[in-house]
Parts: sequence; C-alpha cells; structure tokens
Amino acid sequence: KFVKDTVIVVFGASGDLAKKKTFPALFGLFREGYLDPSTKIIGYARSQLTHSELRAHIEPHLGKPNGKEVDDPKAEQFFQMVSYISGAYDKDEGYVTLRDHIEQFEHERDVETPHRLFYFALPPNVFLSVAKQIKKLVYAENGLTRVIVEKPFGRDLESARKLQNELGPLFSEEEIYRIDHYLGKELVKNLTMLRFGNQFLNASWNKENLQSVQISFKEPFGTEGRGGYFDNIGIIRDVMQNHLLQILTLVTMERPQSFDAEAIRDEKVKVLKAVQPIDVNNILVGQYGKSEDGTKPSYLDDETVDPNSKCITFAALNFNIDNERWRGVPIMMRAGKALNEGKVEIRLQFKKSYGVFADIPNNELVIRVQPNAAVYMKFNAKTPGLSNESQVTDLDLTYSSRYKNFWIPEAYEVLIRDALLGDHSNFVRDDELDVSWRLFTPLLNYLEGPDAPTPEIYPYGTRSPAGLREYMKKHNYVLHSKNNSYSWPVTTPT
Ligand code: BG6
Repeated sequence: KFVKDTVIVVFGASGDLAKKKTFPALFGLFREGYLDPSTKIIGYARSQLTHSELRAHIEPHLGKPNGKEVDDPKAEQFFQMVSYISGAYDKDEGYVTLRDHIEQFEHERDVETPHRLFYFALPPNVFLSVAKQIKKLVYAENGLTRVIVEKPFGRDLESARKLQNELGPLFSEEEIYRIDHYLGKELVKNLTMLRFGNQFLNASWNKENLQSVQISFKEPFGTEGRGGYFDNIGIIRDVMQNHLLQILTLVTMERPQSFDAEAIRDEKVKVLKAVQPIDVNNILVGQYGKSEDGTKPSYLDDETVDPNSKCITFAALNFNIDNERWRGVPIMMRAGKALNEGKVEIRLQFKKSYGVFADIPNNELVIRVQPNAAVYMKFNAKTPGLSNESQVTDLDLTYSSRYKNFWIPEAYEVLIRDALLGDHSNFVRDDELDVSWRLFTPLLNYLEGPDAPTPEIYPYGTRSPAGLREYMKKHNYVLHSKNNSYSWPVTTPT
C-alpha cells in the first residue's frame, strides 16, 4: 500500500516539535525499513538554514531506539532524502519555490499520481495561513494530499468549531489526520485487543465487576521553560482533553463492528456522548509550589508566568458514563506536573470477593503505558506451603522481559506510518473532537471564570496534592498497599 516517490513536507521544520519528534520519527521509520528510500522529505520554515545547519539541528535527536546508537550510514542516506526551503508562512513566494521543488522531483521520477503528505509542526497562529497556501499552491490536484495536524485544535468548543469551519472547505475529513500521539503508544493501541480479545477480561469489564477506574498521568518535571505557553493552557488542555480522554474512550467504548477506522471511531464518539457533564464541584485542582527542600522552583517562580496565575498544573476529575456497562462506576482521571515520578497508567479496581474471602484485597488490573510498559494484575493466591493464608501476587506481562527482541516503535513513528498508508483508525475525527470540547468547555470556563477555585499548592516532587487520597476514596478506590507488603517494581530495567 506504500506509495513510491511520496513527498513529505514538514512545516515548522526548524522548531522544537519537528526536531524532537517529526524528523526522528521519519528517521526511525527509514532505519527500520518502513519508509521507502524513494521518499522525498522537505523541511519548510521561516529560518534561513543550510542543509547542513538543518542536519546539525536534527541529528542530536535521532534517538537511540531500544538503546541502539544512531546508525551512521543510515543517517547519511536519510539526510540525502531531506531538503530544506525557507519561506514565510503567509506569502506565496516560498510556496511557489516549494511547488517547483516538488514538481521537479515528481517529474524526474515520472510520478503519475502524486502523493503529498504535509506535516504541521506549527504554532496555532500560522496554522490556517499554511493550510490556505497549501490548498492554493501545493495541493496534489491529480493525486493524494494528506495533512497531519497537531494540537491545539482550538482552546474550547467555539474556537475548535471555528477552526474546523475554516479547515473544512480546504481539506476533506479523508485528507485530515489529527494527531494525538497517545494513540500511537503501544499499550494504548493494545487496549482494544486486551479488552475484546480476552474473554475473561471482556466478561468482567463492567459495573457488575469493577468498582473504580483510574487513568493517571504523572510527570516528574514542571513547566521548565514552557511556562509562558502553559499558563494559557493548563493541565486540562495540555493532556486531559486529548491524551487522557482518548485513553478513557478506548477503555470504555463498546466492541467495534470491525477494524475499519470508521467503525472504531463511531464507537468512540458513541461512548463520549454518554459521558455525563463534569461536575465542577467534584474536582481537585492544584498548582505546584517550591520543592520541600527548596531546590526546585514553584510554578509562579517562572518569570514567563503571571505572578497571580491560578493556572492548574494538577487536576483530578471524575466521569460518569450513563450506559448499561458503566452506570455508577466512577472513572477518575488525574494528571499532574512536577510530581514524584513519571508514569502513565490505567488501573481498574475490581469489586471485593465475598463470603469467606471477603477480607482479601480487591483485584486490580493495571495497564502501564509508560515507563516500562506492562500489563499486570494484582492477584490473590494461597501462600505457598502449609499456610492457608491468602497473599497478593501478580500476573505479569512486562514488555521488556517478555518481548525482548521486538522493535516497539515510538508513537510518532506509528502514526506517521498510518497516515502514509491512509489509515485513520488512530487519528481523531471531527465529531469526536467536537464532543470532547463539549464535555470540557464548561469546566474550563469555570476554572477560568470569576468563581475559579484557588488551586491547592503541592510541593514540587510530591506524590500529589494532599487531598487526592480522600478524593480517590470518595470515588470507590480502596487502598490496600498500606497493610500488605505487596508493591509492584516500577524501576525501568537496564
Ligand atoms: C504533550 C504535552 O502533548 O504531551 C506535554 O504538551 C507532555 O506537556 C507530553 O509532557 C507528554 O507526552 P509523553 O509522550 O512524553 O508522555
């Protein structure tokens, strides 16, 4: 299905996203044999850069996947496929040069049906100009045009709709790939298989058996250097309305009728429509302060941040889904910056056993997205030997030990490849985006309005704001680890 002589244009080529994610992903695909050497990659940005300057800018970020060093001959070949054009985003001139460059390439290769992929690694203020110019000057009239766009897709329902209304006439939904890189992570991609491919999980994935679901995102660093950007955004727009909501959707949707992209996305939209409005009186919000030892700055110490900012760097929210499967099960989502560790996981806590087993701990199924991808289950067993006491142990699928020789691609590698192959399954559809903003906008308005709550200050590097334990308890999560010695090893293997 791969189209030969594809042209990939990376807009914003000199920026951070392109350098850290887009180019490394293209390189990773090439290195592993998933990007055809006939491909032409063109960087486009305002900065005046020579080819070797662009290369010097990108090369340090060409990762060491699974511990491997960058393979020099491959890097050499890769950069031969790359060229660079500098131009303004809103004037014809640069796009005319770009068009000539593309046409010359396609002409040399005798391309009959051009395939052009445009990657927007761009700030939102130039987004629309670039889209318009592409349509005007470099759109593949007799071929395939695909555009990959990055968040933010607006900042609330109104702005998201406006953006969509402006993009709609330029590109069809078929041509647009809205990227949410969490959808390219291995364990997020595995959710549907785990749920529907294992009958024992499928059968218990419901209100009859589950008492709480948690989706957590923790980062061990603050906004370091991104304060100015973040202050306008907050943790909800940054990771919850998109990345974590995508996870929530995949955890809660019904079985799709097929693996077809639209069948999957139909189910996602359906469950999102069943999510009840977020109760603004049932949230926990925080902002990080200085670390306890005083060595790490508070959020407000960042000079690019408004000194009176109430911007939240931590939030815990609760979702109720009013359908047959989920009615009454609290689904908590929490995300925070500047916490004690970096971790993203989904934790399903089962109801207790009963009768003579009423005292043993609840089962928990944990899908750890990162670091050290794993699926494990807290599982009760008889203590081996003569004892009849129960003991918590685990069923463990840790990827690094089970799948030693697998290449597990980075999220961006997965998604760029999907877009090249025309597979929309792991991209966000327009109506899905609309429902997600409908859900979050009232909460955002409240948090940014006159009655905004004052965020609870938590020290940089702590587990969470102090109120979290109580919040979780209120939403049915029972903590057992205090009184039993079980704890899951979280260290990343060497
Ligand atoms: C981005 C957010 O979308 O996701 C960042 O803007 C966040 O603030 C990042 O750090 C997390 O992605 P990952 O892949 O590092 O978990």
